Amino acid sequence: MDVNQEILKLDWKRQPYGLYAPIEYTLSAGGKRVRPQLAMIACQLFEGKEEEVLPAALALEVFHNFTLLHDDVMDKAEIRRGRPTVHVKWDENTAILSGDQMMIEAYKLLAQLPDTKLPTALRMFNRMATEICEGQQWDVDFESQDDVSIEAYLEMIRLKTSVLLATALQIGAYIAGANQSEQETIYQFGIHIGLAFQIQDDILDVWGDPLTFGKSVGGDIACNKKTFVYLTALNLLDKEGLKHELKHWFGQTLENNAEKIAAVKTIYDQIGVRKACERVVEQYTQKALLLLKELPQNNATLQLRQLADQLNTRNS
Ligand code: IPE
Ligand code: IPE
Ligand code: MG
Ligand code: MG
Ligand code: MG
Repeated sequence: MDVNQEILKLDWKRQPYGLYAPIEYTLSAGGKRVRPQLAMIACQLFEGKEEEVLPAALALEVFHNFTLLHDDVMDKAEIRRGRPTVHVKWDENTAILSGDQMMIEAYKLLAQLPDTKLPTALRMFNRMATEICEGQQWDVDFESQDDVSIEAYLEMIRLKTSVLLATALQIGAYIAGANQSEQETIYQFGIHIGLAFQIQDDILDVWGDPLTFGKSVGGDIACNKKTFVYLTALNLLDKEGLKHELKHWFGQTLENNAEKIAAVKTIYDQIGVRKACERVVEQYTQKALLLLKELPQNNATLQLRQLADQLNTRNS
């Protein structure tokens, strides 16, 4: 089953258009569809029926897209998937309300799961949804905090990014009948690919090609995000000099960010922080792949391995 096609089949031609057109706009703009793919593959891994997991897979993608609408307001991001973000094309109120409606639509899709599976899947989904909000709040809090540790950062990205990938896998496995221990292993696989995924996203936010990445580069620098790239740079720098300069830039909130982004990039490039971050992406991917060995070995395992590798070297 082609999960992308299933997402595009969702019909948003409803009144009021002001509410639904932005949903259609967002869901038709592409995206990698990683989360629904993970749910489908996890279900396949444990020999479940794909039509049973499909409502959850769709719910996860719609939910993900909802978080993007609100995230782009919070991050003042103007481009996503190569197009103007909803709050730019329409306005902030639209991003808020269409985003809210997308969250509701996600729950409506989830509610189509078989009655015997719904209560547990709903509990998993709810836990994940709350954790994403917690992660998003830490992310915003850290913008104005100058003593963020790597541990605090990793916990923040576990919440804002990893739990969605991990829950997609766990729900897929649960629906297929996997036992608790198998569910826990596949969840942990998701956590680790999620950490790699977010660190790679932080890297692309600095060095990505806007054409393939689909987002403006330097957005994290503009917002003083305490990304893995920034925290690693601080660790690589000596007490004085460049470290002082980097911290100085991250204490500024500016209208025009071109000079700041260029200056910070120059510092990053001088100290080879990109390579150091890429090594960590690779490490988390390897940890994830080790966990895969504890799971059934079939065509789905192969697909999970390939996906983990692709995400780790992706440019979009
Ligand atoms: C963007 O997610 C948000 C992050 C967790 C970095 P994706 O990179 O999966 O975005 P799309 O869905 O492919 O556009
Ligand atoms: C993604 O964080 C987390 C969520 C959207 C929940 P980012 O803010 O880094 O995602 P992008 O870079 O805007 O896609
Ligand atoms: Mg963002
Ligand atoms: Mg964000
Ligand atoms: Mg990002």
